[in-house]
Amino acid sequence: MLRQGLLLLHLLGAFAWVGGMFFAYFCLRPAAAEVLDPPKRLPLWAATFARFLPYAGIAVLLILATGLTMLAEVGLGQAPLGWHAMLALGLLMATVFAQVYLVRFPKFRASCAASDWPAAARALDGIRSLVALNLILGVCTVLAAVSAR
Ligand code: HEM
Repeated sequence: MLRQGLLLLHLLGAFAWVGGMFFAYFCLRPAAAEVLDPPKRLPLWAATFARFLPYAGIAVLLILATGLTMLAEVGLGQAPLGWHAMLALGLLMATVFAQVYLVRFPKFRASCAASDWPAAARALDGIRSLVALNLILGVCTVLAAVSAR
């Protein structure tokens, strides 16, 4: 029962985080590029990230806390290889997320506030690359989780 609850929270966190990145990358990004010019598009991204990143931060903490609790119950020595891979990939994804949230996003927001659109576009492109990286790592993490079945 407790384990099911932990797994439920773990999976809800992963859905929110990875699903949010999928929507941003594959749906909002091309739509915003098609419809809006940089002075409108870049502030839209700043406002979107200002809402998404705190939710994603909660999801990351939830995934790490529930994942590590479930892992600790079994013990690292007894855990299947897929769980070791999930731990390593999950920590890597959390590091990439922290880089986006704590370093790249504040710079991007500052450039938008200063209406420095070329600098904001460069900063957004850096964030886009890191989101693409985390999407790939997210898929690998789910593969690692399923491989342990
Ligand atoms: C510190 C990082 C993480 C740790 C320690 C961890 C640990 C675990 C553990 C122990 C389970 C097995 C629960 C069980 O079968 O009873 C699990 C399941 C799962 N985790 Fe993670 N996890 C981490 C990060 C992630 C991330 C980032 C994702 C997705 C992006 C993810 C996706 C999944 C999925 C889909 C399952 C279900 C697998 C299944 O039931 O077949 N995990 N995790």
